[in-house]
Amino acid sequence: MNQPVLQGVAALNVPAYLKHQRLINWVAEIAALTKPAHIVWCDGSQEEYERLCADMVAAGTLQKLNPAKRPNCFLALSDPSDVARVEDRTYICSATREQAGPTNNWIAPAEMRATLHGLFDGCMQGRTMYVVPFSMGPLGSPIAHIGVELSDSPYVAVNMRIMTRMGKAVYEVLGSDGEFVPAVHSVGAPLAAGQADVAWPCNPTKYIVHYPETREIWSYGSGYGGNALLGKKCCALRIASTMGKQEAAAGGSGWLAEHMLILGVESPEGKKHYVAAAFPSACGKTNFAMMIPPPAFNGWKVTTIGDDIAWIKPGQDGRLYAINPEAGYFGVAPGTNEQTNANCMASMRANTIFTNVALTDDGDVWWEGLTRQAPAHLIDWQGKDWTPASGSKAAHPNSRFTVAATQNPVLDPAWDDPAGVPLSAFIFGGRRSTTVPLVTQARNWTEGVYMAATMGSETTAAAAAKVGVVRRDPFAMLPFIGYNMSDYFQHWLDIGASNPAAMPKIFCVNWFRTDAEGRFVWPGFGDNMRVLKWMLDRIEGNAGGVDHLFGTSPRFDDMNWDGLPFTRAQFEQITSIDGAAWHDEVKLHDELFDKLAYHLPQALVDTRLALQSRMAA
Ligand code: GTP
Ligand code: SPV
Ligand code: MN
Repeated sequence: MNQPVLQGVAALNVPAYLKHQRLINWVAEIAALTKPAHIVWCDGSQEEYERLCADMVAAGTLQKLNPAKRPNCFLALSDPSDVARVEDRTYICSATREQAGPTNNWIAPAEMRATLHGLFDGCMQGRTMYVVPFSMGPLGSPIAHIGVELSDSPYVAVNMRIMTRMGKAVYEVLGSDGEFVPAVHSVGAPLAAGQADVAWPCNPTKYIVHYPETREIWSYGSGYGGNALLGKKCCALRIASTMGKQEAAAGGSGWLAEHMLILGVESPEGKKHYVAAAFPSACGKTNFAMMIPPPAFNGWKVTTIGDDIAWIKPGQDGRLYAINPEAGYFGVAPGTNEQTNANCMASMRANTIFTNVALTDDGDVWWEGLTRQAPAHLIDWQGKDWTPASGSKAAHPNSRFTVAATQNPVLDPAWDDPAGVPLSAFIFGGRRSTTVPLVTQARNWTEGVYMAATMGSETTAAAAAKVGVVRRDPFAMLPFIGYNMSDYFQHWLDIGASNPAAMPKIFCVNWFRTDAEGRFVWPGFGDNMRVLKWMLDRIEGNAGGVDHLFGTSPRFDDMNWDGLPFTRAQFEQITSIDGAAWHDEVKLHDELFDKLAYHLPQALVDTRLALQSRMAA
């Protein structure tokens, strides 16, 4: 291979196994721009993982947890300003503003390139650039896509090893000329000669940028989660959603990249279904994907394919098949405990990286909701002494754990199957303290797409913005669609029209209705199995329900209440449909549709008109 010579920066040191000249040239070009002191080509080995973790312990980025309590586990505390995705700094730089649509930030590609060129010039000085090859989806699968992330963060390199199929086997799949998504990431904190580093370098200026035409990702200034682990939201959702749409535009069937968990559910008789569910960030995907059914559902088994992202494609038989492009979970810590998610607790007993949780005096982790009573003393997520009297959160509300899927005790045997699993249902759910009932089935595909398109949800700490305000979050994809949202709706309608009889049924759920005191009425978690069971019965054609304004919902007697003291009055509290509230809700649908008027599918406008005339009647 031709080894480009770099002026005044690190030697390139391309490993002999790499046979892809275009990739080598790109790494050289980015190194020439960013000027790192060293370049490390990650091979994905366990030895490399341990070495990088040890380096980070020495640098103060990671703390090793007590091996007797959490073997091979580490804690990272981020800069207090770098704790979540930055949606207002996230850009889709397509050729035209219309292609990005009104729900995405857009800047003309040439202008953005000029800005980023300035920021990336010399931004890795004094640091090491890690070359991180990854596959989203099983290596070599026809559905998988490959990316290469160049990052000056070793924290990113080790997290990418858990979250993706990362390592040198990716280069074998790429061969000498394979396609890959180029992704450049910098924390934006160059080090002058002799300058001491900080534990969590980052920059107050942040840019998370996508160029859909060239399928490039550029991320600057943040080291946290979806801002920095570029295989996840940037590649597997924003770039991938665009790819799936483009393949349809090019005459293929196209495919979907969705913010969905995928789970398998098997009855005691051995009948198995797979369902995919889209809930916005920090609204319960990980919990639902690993759910333990209540004792009354003895013999029912729930298994996980994925907890955050699904890639979905029509198969030969016309049904939709889904894969999980990821290999690990980057899950929300607060609220996770032995009651809410025992499988998740088991997953993170070892080999886990925790970020922004609290540290106990015996070298273990703690977060709000882990135990009923907080420990008497902790080091909080900002590294400060904490006691229950502190009055602040010990763990950041968006604190997370990174863990390999293979540590999940209920991992589905097909989780790695390149063919994917056939879907029987789509579930859409938001976080709504009022208005939206526990569960509703759409009467047809278009009504289901309408339900998903108009979904609202109260914002959470997963994004760096105000928490708890209702916003429209269509398909739980508001921050993740890489192109115009109206065209995305049309893509969903087209996929449904390709084989209506074979499509999954569509449901909408809400676990989050509250009472007058603001407490959740629905017990949730394992008891969500009761709702799932009603859906499966509907799919099999043997569950009752009642038709209402916008779909079909169960009556109290249509659901299984064995072992749960839940009254008709409580059921009424979480299923009632308030006419006045829905009048206001549909006004919000109108506002969304006004915003999305360009290319908005007529079928959705017609569905809203039908809904409004039913409401008027
Ligand atoms: P991202 O990883 O951000 O995409 O989110 P996620 O959807 O995977 O979030 P996760 O499952 O980690 O949700 C975390 C939050 O949802 C915690 O606050 C949980 O306590 C809460 N949660 C999950 N399931 C339920 C439920 O059934 N009922 C209630 N009330 N809360 C739930
Ligand atoms: C989300 O916010 O939806 C996540 C976490 O899954 S992050 O990877 O940070 O985007
Ligand atoms: Mn997510």
